[in-house]
Amino acid sequence: MNRSGMDKFKENLKNIRASFAASLLRTKRPISGRSRAAVMLNNFFLHIQGVRTNINTLRPSYTFGLGLVSLFLLFFTTISGILLMIYYSPSTGEAYNTVKDITYVVFAGSLMRNVHKWAGEGMIIFVMLHMARVFYTGSYSRPREFNWLVGIMLLILTFVLNLSGYMLPWDQLSYWALVIVSNIIQSSKELTDALGITPYFDIGGMAKEFFLGGTVPGKATLIRVYFLHIMLLPILLFIFLGVHFWRIRKDGGLSRPAGSAEKSVFSWPDLLRAETAVFMLCLAGVLVYSFYVDAPLREMANPLIPENPAKAPWYFLGLQEMVSYSAFMGGIVAPGLAILGLALIPYLDREDGHAGIWFSGRQGKITALQSMFAGAAVLAGLLAFVIRFGWFRNWWPDVPQILIIMVNPAGIWVAFVALWSLRVIKKTGSTRMGAIALFTMFLVGYVMLTYVGTELRGPNWEFYWLKSQWPMH
Ligand code: HEM
Repeated sequence: MNRSGMDKFKENLKNIRASFAASLLRTKRPISGRSRAAVMLNNFFLHIQGVRTNINTLRPSYTFGLGLVSLFLLFFTTISGILLMIYYSPSTGEAYNTVKDITYVVFAGSLMRNVHKWAGEGMIIFVMLHMARVFYTGSYSRPREFNWLVGIMLLILTFVLNLSGYMLPWDQLSYWALVIVSNIIQSSKELTDALGITPYFDIGGMAKEFFLGGTVPGKATLIRVYFLHIMLLPILLFIFLGVHFWRIRKDGGLSRPAGSAEKSVFSWPDLLRAETAVFMLCLAGVLVYSFYVDAPLREMANPLIPENPAKAPWYFLGLQEMVSYSAFMGGIVAPGLAILGLALIPYLDREDGHAGIWFSGRQGKITALQSMFAGAAVLAGLLAFVIRFGWFRNWWPDVPQILIIMVNPAGIWVAFVALWSLRVIKKTGSTRMGAIALFTMFLVGYVMLTYVGTELRGPNWEFYWLKSQWPMH
């Protein structure tokens, strides 16, 4: 039968829903093994995951879904960030007012800003927890060493992305945090000053000027930080994230104990159901938190009225605490060694057979506990000593600066962590135990120093048990 063009057109119009659905969903309802495999292979968003998933991966007590939580928080941050960009203007004259408009005028603007802020800062906590999960289940060992390194890059990017966002509202918090951060960037000046070579080779000053686009925070700084925040850092983060997920597949899925049953299930629907549950929980958590807790916004940035105490955002206050002892040791050497130490863990501990086992068994649990208590005691003692009795400069005002750079609480802490880890290796004969000691002390140091910097430091970086004891100013 010869149909006219109009007939064909009418039929196509009638079938448009069905033909659109068929072009979108290329596989039949995934109820058989074959169609479940097909849906995972044919869907762009699902194909990064395997057709089958090992049942160990689905045990909530193995991953706690922490990597996924980090990913979903990034997703919420990205969506809310794109919406914020519609109103935000990165100029020193307008930035503050646009953020104020977003907070008080724009429909749902305050909620979007809160979601962006809390999901972003939530990432810091969950990425750290995810790293701890990966570490304590020995999941950095062969063949996953490289993915551990990619993870370290993701960790750094998460921190720097948060920090760059903190600067954008251009309020007093942003401005004085910028001053603190630019001083940390300048830390090596302490060393060049002590060596008397600053007039010829001021690398710290150069780095600070490059970051600020001048000598003090201003127009050029804000546009630089904005470019970092919305362009360079997200691009890098998404590239590294792509590599991270690709490597998980290439490394044979998630780690699991050697010799454990290779039992697997179809990813559709078991894995997807678990992922959807984590997604819903994350969304609910972020929305509820953002509904009740507002992101802070102080007065507009004013270079003439310093904040006292001028503080970096909370996740960098551990660093600021160390910088208060020695800029060079606290701002460059200690964090540099911490990152290097973390990155080298899979290459210095080459023992096999630990993957997939929490703490590598009883000995690892004991090592972690001992390291936690020893680390906490030594660091608390060190901090209490400096707070109570001061350091070299308080006892001998004319002491050469180079001596303070070489011997100070930040340096002593780093040396203690290194020596303790080496001692554990010697005592147990296991590099894995040494790694557990090192990593545990890194976590203890980060948490304790952050707590001290956040809660116990007041005006002029003096120690106070309570904020209510701060002198009024
Ligand atoms: C933006 C930050 C990150 C995101 C979104 C992310 C996401 C993920 C996800 C979804 C997984 C699958 C398993 C799970 O949920 O635990 C995973 C696995 C893994 N991640 Fe991350 N990750 C991030 C940062 C890190 C960091 C900081 C490290 C370590 C330094 C790391 C190292 C690993 C390793 C080695 C695996 C494989 C673990 C295994 O085989 O058991 N990741 N990551």
